[in-house]
Amino acid sequence: MATATALRQPVVIQGGMGVAVSDWRLARAVSVTGQLGVVSGTALDVLLTRRLQSGDPGGHVRRALAAFPRPEVSRWILDSYFVEGGIGAEGRFAQVPRHTLSSSVRLQELTVAAGFAEVFLAKEGHDGLVGINFLRKIELPLPATLYGALLAGVDFVLVGAGSPADIPGMVRHLASHQPVTVSVKVMGARSTDNVGDLVFDPAVALPQRPATLPMPRVLAIVASTDLARGLAENPETRPDGFVVEGAAAGGHNAPPRGPRRVDEIGQPVYDERDVVDVADILSLGLPVWLAGGYGTPDKVAEALALGAAGVQVGTLFAYSDESGFDADVKAQMREKAVAGELQVRADWRVSPTGFPFRVADIPGTLTDVTVRAARKPVCDLGVLRSAYLKADGEVDYRCPAEPLAQYVRKGGREMNTEGRLCLCNALFASAGFPQRRPGGASEAPLVTSGTDLEPVVHLIGASDGPGYGAADAVAHLLSRIS
Ligand SMILES: Cc1cc2nc3c(=O)[nH]c(=O)nc-3n(C[C@H](O)[C@H](O)[C@H](O)COP(=O)(O)O)c2cc1C
Repeated sequence: MATATALRQPVVIQGGMGVAVSDWRLARAVSVTGQLGVVSGTALDVLLTRRLQSGDPGGHVRRALAAFPRPEVSRWILDSYFVEGGIGAEGRFAQVPRHTLSSSVRLQELTVAAGFAEVFLAKEGHDGLVGINFLRKIELPLPATLYGALLAGVDFVLVGAGSPADIPGMVRHLASHQPVTVSVKVMGARSTDNVGDLVFDPAVALPQRPATLPMPRVLAIVASTDLARGLAENPETRPDGFVVEGAAAGGHNAPPRGPRRVDEIGQPVYDERDVVDVADILSLGLPVWLAGGYGTPDKVAEALALGAAGVQVGTLFAYSDESGFDADVKAQMREKAVAGELQVRADWRVSPTGFPFRVADIPGTLTDVTVRAARKPVCDLGVLRSAYLKADGEVDYRCPAEPLAQYVRKGGREMNTEGRLCLCNALFASAGFPQRRPGGASEAPLVTSGTDLEPVVHLIGASDGPGYGAADAVAHLLSRIS
């Protein structure tokens, strides 16, 4: 039997923010304040290799890999990717193989090690709580990353963007080093086709089974009472709590219920059908954190008065000193926010996932039409690809943001590509790890942010420097209740 971690409960959860916006530095900075710091679990395999190819300043990744329980895995990763002094501004990052239903042993090892390293660094040297965030839609690397996080002693697993029904069971199995099977949706396949099972066996990474790992708590990120109720009613899918997220949040948002409705600039229109009754979710008997526009001391007090355990906050932490945004990008975001000139809108087309995605209009990024027109489509990270069944019965993968001819050749519909962008490359660029293309051009960033900018502007105004730390953000959030 797995043992439960001591039930310390945070008031503030710093929301998981990919790619690398909530990296181990931010999560650690929040965690040492006594609240819950959360690392993003998205594309950690690619991120780790890019950090190593950037020379691993400070030696953090190498230190984490030195603690990974399979030294020979750490060794081949370093031999393959570490570049002393970094590849330099002209260098191009090596390609990491893309995940499939049957990823190579090496890719699985790399992914486990990457999940381990991110959580290890966030937890290093203190006993605060650390969580990891997953987007359920990105399923191929999920079990391997989760296993790595468990090996590093992660305290919370938070899952949104899709139904996290299978996550509590997956955590239980992986904590006792049992193989798991994820049923991956393969477009065009019938259940009788028998394709789509992704099997991850922890023995791939650790052939000798260590003792059962401590069980983290699983929080489901939901935007509807129906989903929360469905999860809570079945003991197999019942999480340990809910984060209820509204549409002000950064990153991907849940689409509105009912027929598709958009405003004059293409944003989804929400109405009363989308309002979640917090009392209803509380009646399920599990702790609840409220998210999306809860980044002020008043909203924290309001959440607690409603009976919630606390809040999950993203935007306020995304603009803090420790977040993983590229320094120039962050400086522009702050400057425009303070000037009251930062437009943040929900774009229903841009994300290949089909979910609305919040973007901040910033010159020089992909919201700028000239920058966007100059980008040549290329799909080389493939994190958001989905599986489909080919005519010959084999499974292949496609993404509506890949080059059009390639997508259509794979049976994708042209109309589905309209307005899409390669979020994989764009978000790596906004985290300061852009791919360089032949001829020297770099991939351009795209910035996601929530709309709750008032506390950001407040804290920047209150600081002596250009910004504020994550600990300042936590102290501000708790200032009315402590
Ligand atoms: C830059 C950014 C990236 C985000 N990425 C993710 C993500 O990868 N996964 C996720 O579940 N939520 C993501 N979110 C949502 C946050 O975790 C959090 O729930 C949300 O931002 C809360 O609303 P607030 O921004 O109004 O505080 C992101 C938010 C921001 C601002």
